[in-house]
Amino acid sequence: MNFTAEDVSFSKVTVAFFTVASILISIRIFMKSKQPRPPGPWSLPIVGNLLQLGEYPYISFERMRKKYGDVFQIKLGMVPVVVVNGLDAVKQVLLRDGESFAARPDMHTFSFFADGESLSFSVKYGESWKLQKQIASKALRSLTKSEATSSTCSCLLEEHVCAEALELVKTFVELSKQAGSFDPAASTTCAIANVVCALCFNKRYDHDDEEFQGMLKVNDDFIKASGVFNPADFIPSLRYLPLPAAKAAREFYRKFNNFVAKRVEDHYTTYDKNHLRDITDALISVSNEKREDGKAAALSQQKIIVTVNDIFGAGFATLSVCLQWIFLYLISNPEIQTKIQEEIDAKIGERPSRFKDRKVLHYTEAFLHEIFRHASFLPFTIPHCTTKDATLNGYHIPTKTCIFVNMYQVNHDEA
Ligand code: HEM
Repeated sequence: MNFTAEDVSFSKVTVAFFTVASILISIRIFMKSKQPRPPGPWSLPIVGNLLQLGEYPYISFERMRKKYGDVFQIKLGMVPVVVVNGLDAVKQVLLRDGESFAARPDMHTFSFFADGESLSFSVKYGESWKLQKQIASKALRSLTKSEATSSTCSCLLEEHVCAEALELVKTFVELSKQAGSFDPAASTTCAIANVVCALCFNKRYDHDDEEFQGMLKVNDDFIKASGVFNPADFIPSLRYLPLPAAKAAREFYRKFNNFVAKRVEDHYTTYDKNHLRDITDALISVSNEKREDGKAAALSQQKIIVTVNDIFGAGFATLSVCLQWIFLYLISNPEIQTKIQEEIDAKIGERPSRFKDRKVLHYTEAFLHEIFRHASFLPFTIPHCTTKDATLNGYHIPTKTCIFVNMYQVNHDEA
């Protein structure tokens, strides 16, 4: 049988096309509605499951996981939250299908940071955010390759870490002479702040420097403020009330931003593209490269301030808490302390240790990994949010769903 052009008229083709398209769309909608939503406990109106979480939500989540499986849904206040446990599901969210889960939820607290333009907390997922992240990663990588000024160190980062570690040991020796015991928290925080200041601004401070102490106080206020639960994150109508948690976080961000902005402005005036001193210079450099490329938009000075802010905050708070956990484990496990000392004595001896020594310090390295696992001092990642409809462990997760990744559970999984 032969068809002519007249037989297949334009209107027939259009009708056929729309019929097939609507069948396909209907099948898709049907399949999605067939896909179950994650199971979870019953929740109360307004507060949801908030009252069931207790002081340690990751422990409560473990109880729920035993009942509902690795992926379950709760309501925090009025916000549905999917809690993800189990290595396989976590890998799917953070790696295999990372793009579908890459956004941040619209939480009230996040909006205080850089008017929502922050790298770590921005709800504005899209091309501009991806570029900011790409530039920040490139700047961090380029810094790890920056040459040290002394020949005994392999890179600038190692030089800063070694210099500050030496100072910290001297401080501990002095403090041990004065009293039978001492609290290492303040000097540890100072040491970490100095490493991060050196990385971000190529500047080391004396521990009693007024400006430096002011910045440490701001960080201390931040740790206190971030420990204050902001109910407006989960009950949106409370956003309009002057809650103490909101005031503290805003105040912290304003002071911290001023500290960083001043240093970034100084860097712009002294910047030399042939001599990159730190992360701020590296960010300016990578951003300028993009501008010269003409292929992608560069970061504005304001965006560079925000990005340094994020890197500074993320590096400082995590590392100072981490080091304090290390001391705690060493103090409460003297036999482990002895083994580490014996390994260092045998493999390194009297000379100062360097990054490359990690390859031969097997026991020490294993101890550090075990601290991360056992302490899990950051039990969750920063909350994530879906960028589009996704499927996880066979469950349908609609776009813009808030996701909590339970790292504590993965680190303590008995399976
Ligand atoms: C003990 C050390 C550290 C721990 C345990 C740690 C842990 C984390 C975690 C759990 C996240 C959230 C990831 C997510 O939401 O998917 C994060 C994000 C981040 N960290 Fe770290 N971190 C550490 C050190 C550092 C350091 C030293 C820096 C920089 C110098 C840094 C920079 C960042 C940045 C920029 C982000 C945001 C990334 C993004 O939103 O895509 N962190 N970190």
